[in-house]
Amino acid sequence: MERLWPDPGVEADDEVHADLSRRDDWVASNFVVSLDGAIALAGRSGGLGGDGDLQLFRTLRDRADVVMAGAGTVRTEGYRPTRLRAAEARRARGQEPRPRLVVVTRSADLADVDRLWSEPGAPITVLTGTDAPADRLAWLRERAEVLAVGDDGPDLAAGLDLLRDRGLTRILAEGGPSLQVDLLSAGLVTDLFTTVAPLVVGGGATTVPDQLPETVALSLRSVRRHGDELFLHHWVTPAT
Ligand SMILES: NC(=O)c1ccc[n+]([C@@H]2O[C@H](COP(=O)([O-])OP(=O)(O)OC[C@H]3O[C@@H](n4cnc5c(N)ncnc54)[C@H](OP(=O)(O)O)[C@@H]3O)[C@@H](O)[C@H]2O)c1
Repeated sequence: MERLWPDPGVEADDEVHADLSRRDDWVASNFVVSLDGAIALAGRSGGLGGDGDLQLFRTLRDRADVVMAGAGTVRTEGYRPTRLRAAEARRARGQEPRPRLVVVTRSADLADVDRLWSEPGAPITVLTGTDAPADRLAWLRERAEVLAVGDDGPDLAAGLDLLRDRGLTRILAEGGPSLQVDLLSAGLVTDLFTTVAPLVVGGGATTVPDQLPETVALSLRSVRRHGDELFLHHWVTPAT
């Protein structure tokens, strides 16, 4: 990875962490987007990202206590439990051997996502509301931890607080767009990592949704490059 700004130069994989280490409590959103705003190619984000994006994806996961994803992304991308990687470094930092996967859902309808349940006992939490159907909650409770907070779908802020109370303070939100918009609108995101893919996808591409109620101000923290991919890291500027 080559850092273009600030302090240009080649850097080690994990130097991106230095940008996050201003504190141990963050909610970082990581997204890949084409030059014309598409967030998926043939329905999946994998077609947009190259080697550098995969490297960033892994590096951020290695540092996170929690990987959070919306149920739509979990279904479309066929999410599995997180893998064991960099376990020794994680232990040295006092972290669990691998990040907990937190799936956000209103419907609690996750029974058909076979890959999610491929490893009994894996660290998975389902974050949903108390209004989710009782039979689905019961089914999920046999397979994962269930946090039911909020009486009109999940209360994201309360859910994050419950995770933080358990020491899970480094939270990586991997999308999709609906969840990202909800987290941003609620003022819960501290950092945005955006990979700009060297592609113009054209007609029919799924674009970042436009239902964000208010403009969110950002401050540029760093710009990196790997091949033709560009990587932007922004801090979310607190609303004044
Ligand atoms: N470019 C990228 O970096 C990137 C990253 C991730 C995903 N994607 C792409 O995004 C597309 C999926 O988009 P999407 O908007 O459907 O993704 P999403 O946000 O993952 O999924 C939406 C679903 O997740 C649940 N959800 C999200 N936010 C919620 C909230 N605040 N409260 C309750 N439930 C919430 C709901 O599930 P229920 O229906 O179960 O209630 C909702 O229907 C896919 O094509 C995927 O490939 C791209």
